[in-house]
Amino acid sequence: MKLKYFSHSSFQITTDSGLVLLIDPFLDDNPTSPVTSDQVGADFIVLTHAHGDHLGDGFKIAARTDPLFICVNELANYCSEKGFRAHNMHIGGSYAFDFGSLKFTIAHHGSMTPEGTYGGEPAGVVLSIDGKTLYHTGDTGLFYDMKLIGEMTSLDYMLVPIGDNFTMGIVDAVKAVELANPGIAIPMHYNTFPVIEADPQEFRKGVEAIGKQVVVMGFGDEIVL
Ligand code: NI
Ligand code: MN
Repeated sequence: MKLKYFSHSSFQITTDSGLVLLIDPFLDDNPTSPVTSDQVGADFIVLTHAHGDHLGDGFKIAARTDPLFICVNELANYCSEKGFRAHNMHIGGSYAFDFGSLKFTIAHHGSMTPEGTYGGEPAGVVLSIDGKTLYHTGDTGLFYDMKLIGEMTSLDYMLVPIGDNFTMGIVDAVKAVELANPGIAIPMHYNTFPVIEADPQEFRKGVEAIGKQVVVMGFGDEIVL
């Protein structure tokens, strides 16, 4: 599979069979995104929570390309109420989709829709696609059960917020990598706005100091996993 980074927590996965998943597609109002929402399409849109910088342009993209939204129950209902297709799940549950399997994990954060209604619990997501596993933590503070997530699924990649203020900062993000123990850590949710400025090279140094690997993806970069 291929992983493309649009900055913030926004990623595009293209499977070997050509299916396209978007995770948290925050593009048009994202000053660091190299693309706008009219330049992307999706077969599936995975949302970790309902905040505007994660739900993002999901509905605009869906209006053009009719993807299946995959989210926790309350947020999936919100997508359905807007007239879009959704698969309702919840934390701890996994499901086998055409692209591979997906499991929602806990995340310590909030989740309110742009309309101010409850968006359900915020989540992280563990994906198993084309023989690789990838953990996108969503927006979260550090929690010790990241160790459990890494024990239950041997993780090849972990997408970790480092921007602080709303999520983990670098020190906690390094600890998160130590706990979940992925093959490669990839920083996210930083430098989008002044309040979440962070140096990914500082994160790299911290992670390498505990003997783990980091790939810092540039905004717009695509890598083969
Ligand atoms: Ni958030
Ligand atoms: Mn966020």
